[in-house]
Amino acid sequence: MTKHWHIEKDISGLCWLSLDKTDSTTNVLSNSVLKELSELIDHLELDPPIGVIIRSNKTTGFVLGADITEFGALNGIEEAEALVLNTHRLFDRIENLPCPTIALIEGFALGGGLELALACDYRLVVMTDSRTIGFPEIQLGIHPGFGGTVRSVRILGALAAMDLMLSGKMLTPQQALNIGLISYVADRSQIETKARQLVSHKPPRKKAPLYLRFIRLKPCRIWLGRHLKKIISKRARQEHYPAPYSLIDLWVQHGGSDTEAYHAEAKSISRLLFTTTAKNLVRVYFLRQKLSGLSELASPIQSAHIIGAGVMGANIAAWCSLKKIIVTVQDSKKVIIEPALKKAASLFKRRLKDPKTLDSAHKRLRPDPEGKMIGDADIVIEAIIEQLDAKKVLLENIEQDLKSTAILATNTSSIDIEQLSGNLVHPERFVGLHFFNPVDRLPLVEVIRSDSTNTKYFEDAISFVRHIDKLPLPCRSVPGFVVNRVLAPYMLEALYAYQEGYQLETIDEAAIQFGMPTGPIELADRVGLDIALNVTQILRDKLPNANLELLIDKVKTGNLGVKTGKGFYTFDGGRPKKKKEYAKPGIELKDRLVLALVNEAMACFEDKVVEDLDLIDAGIVFGAGFAPFRGGPIQYARERGVKSVIDQLNLFEEKLGIRFKPNEGWQKLI
Ligand code: NAI
Repeated sequence: MTKHWHIEKDISGLCWLSLDKTDSTTNVLSNSVLKELSELIDHLELDPPIGVIIRSNKTTGFVLGADITEFGALNGIEEAEALVLNTHRLFDRIENLPCPTIALIEGFALGGGLELALACDYRLVVMTDSRTIGFPEIQLGIHPGFGGTVRSVRILGALAAMDLMLSGKMLTPQQALNIGLISYVADRSQIETKARQLVSHKPPRKKAPLYLRFIRLKPCRIWLGRHLKKIISKRARQEHYPAPYSLIDLWVQHGGSDTEAYHAEAKSISRLLFTTTAKNLVRVYFLRQKLSGLSELASPIQSAHIIGAGVMGANIAAWCSLKKIIVTVQDSKKVIIEPALKKAASLFKRRLKDPKTLDSAHKRLRPDPEGKMIGDADIVIEAIIEQLDAKKVLLENIEQDLKSTAILATNTSSIDIEQLSGNLVHPERFVGLHFFNPVDRLPLVEVIRSDSTNTKYFEDAISFVRHIDKLPLPCRSVPGFVVNRVLAPYMLEALYAYQEGYQLETIDEAAIQFGMPTGPIELADRVGLDIALNVTQILRDKLPNANLELLIDKVKTGNLGVKTGKGFYTFDGGRPKKKKEYAKPGIELKDRLVLALVNEAMACFEDKVVEDLDLIDAGIVFGAGFAPFRGGPIQYARERGVKSVIDQLNLFEEKLGIRFKPNEGWQKLI
C-alpha cells in the first residue's frame, strides 16, 4: 500500500508511476516519498515492465525539489550524508533499470525533482512559456545533492551545467531543450503518445557533445575552475556564500570520475547543509513563504490609476501593467509621461519575449494626463512628491471622483497615513502601499493601515500586492514604517563616521564586508539625498541628536546623488567613482553601522509596527537587501548572542552617545 505514489501497469505493459504527495499541494521528495519509490523500484527490478514513466498527479508541477522542511530535523553531517547516499543508490537503480525510463514533466521540475528526471533515460516536457526548470539550490546555500552535479555535467557538458547550477536560473522547456537538459517537448494533448513512441523506438540518449569532452581533462578543469571562481567572487564572497565555491571545487577535483564524484557530492552537500549560511538562507526561504501566504484571496483588482509619473510612479505603473493590470498614468507635468512610458517599454522588452504578450502589456498601459479615467480604476495609487500638503490637497480633490469600491493608496515613504487621510470623507478605504526602488528588483511592498482603515480594504490591498507578484509586509502607520525607519540610523551612523574622518570608500566597504549589497553612503546617493533628508527629518524624534547638516548642505547645493550626477560620490554613467586606495575598515566601524540598524530593528518591533520578529527580518531582507545569508537583523543578533549585542551597544553608548542605548526589547530575548 503506497501513500504518495500511484502505480499502474497498462495493457501495453507500460508502468506509470504517478506522484501525488499526501497532505501537500505540491510534490517534494520527502524521506517517505523516496522510501516508497525505493520499494516500487524493488518490484520493477524483479519484474521489469516494457517501460517506466514517472509523472505527477498534481496540478502544481512535477516535483519541486527535496523537502526543505526536513532539513532542520537532521542530526548532524553524518546522518545527512547517509540519507544523501541512500538517494544516490535509488537514483542509480532507476538509471540502471533494464527498460526505458521517462520523466514526464508538466510544470515545475526543480532541484531534486530535476535530478530525479536526469536519472531517467528521457525527459519529456509539456510545452509552456513559463520558466519551470532549474537548480535553485544555490539560493539555499547548497548545491544539487541527488547526483545532479554529476549527471548534469555528463548530459550538458560542464559549461552549461555549471552555469545552470551556479546561477540557480530557471529555464523554459524550450530553453532547456536548446541546451540539451531535456530530451523532447510536446503539447499536452500529444504527451502520452510521445511517451509511448519513446518506449517503442528507444532513440539514443542525449549526452554532451564530443567537442566538450576535452574539458573533462584535469588541466582544463583546473584552469576553468579558477576562471569560474573569479567570476563568482564578483557576486558572492566565499566566506559569506561557500556553496558556489564548493560546487566548482567538486567538479575540478572529481569531474573526471563518476563514482568518486558522487561520493564527493554527498560529502560536500552534507557539510554545506550545516553551515550558518544554508540555515539562514533556508530561513529566508520560509520568510518569503510566510509573506506570500499572507493572502490566499483572489484579488478583485483589475485596473489601477497611478498619479505621479516620476521615478516611482513610472515604475509602479510599468510593473502593474507587466503583471496584467490595466493601468492609466497621470502627472501634472504632461512631458513627464512620455519618458515614463519609455521606461515601461524597456522593462517589457527585458521581461517579455513573446511578441503577443509584449503587445498586450503595451496596450494595458495608457497615458491619462488629466486623470479622466480615475473613476474606472479599482485602485488609485498616489506617487507624487513627498510633501504633506501637496499630497493632502491632491487626495482630497480626487476622492469624489473614485468608484465607491476603489482602494485609495499612497506610496509615501515616510508620512503618517493618518496625517494624509485626516480630511478624507472615506478614510476607511485609504492605505499605504510603499514600493521600493528599483520596483522591478525589490520584492517587498509595505502595506500600511491607519486606525481608520477598514479591514476589508486592507486585506484587498494585501491580495493586490500578491496578485502583482510582490511580497506584502502589513505595517501599522508609524513614521518610516519598517524599512526606512531601520535604515535611517544605519545611514546616519555612516555620516557620523564620515564627519569623524573615515573615507567614504572605507565606510561602504565595512558594510559590504558584512554582506550588505551596497554601502550606506552609496545607498543614500542612490535613494536621493533629498529623499534621505526628508525621511530623516520625519524620523527626527526617533534619532536622538541626529546631525543632518551634511545632508542639508548637499541638498542646498543641488548635489542630490545619482539623479544629479553628484552626491557624496560623483557618478559616471550611473556608477560612483570610488577611490581605489583607501583605508581598510576595522571591526569597530562595521559594528557601529550594523548595530545601529539591528538596535532600531528591535525598537521597531517594540513599537508594534509589525506583528512578530520574523516580519521585521523579512522586511529588512526583502526591502533593504540586508545580507540574506545572515537571516535578518534579529536573527543576526540571536546568532551573535543577544548578550554580546547588548554589551557592545553599551560600550558604544559610552563612547559615541545615547543613540546606541540598547533597546529594552533585547531583554526578552536573553
Ligand atoms: P519624483 O519627484 O520623481 O516624481 C513625482 C512626480 O509627481 C513628478 O513627476 C511630478 O510632476 C508629479 N506631481 C507632483 N505633484 C503632482 C500633482 N499634484 N498631480 C500629479 N502629479 C504631480 O518623486 P518619486 O521619487 O517618484 O517619489 C514619489 C513618491 O514615492 C514619494 O512619496 C516618495 O517618498 C515615494 N518613494 C520614493 C522612493 C524613491 O526611491 N524615489 C522609494 C519609495 C517611495
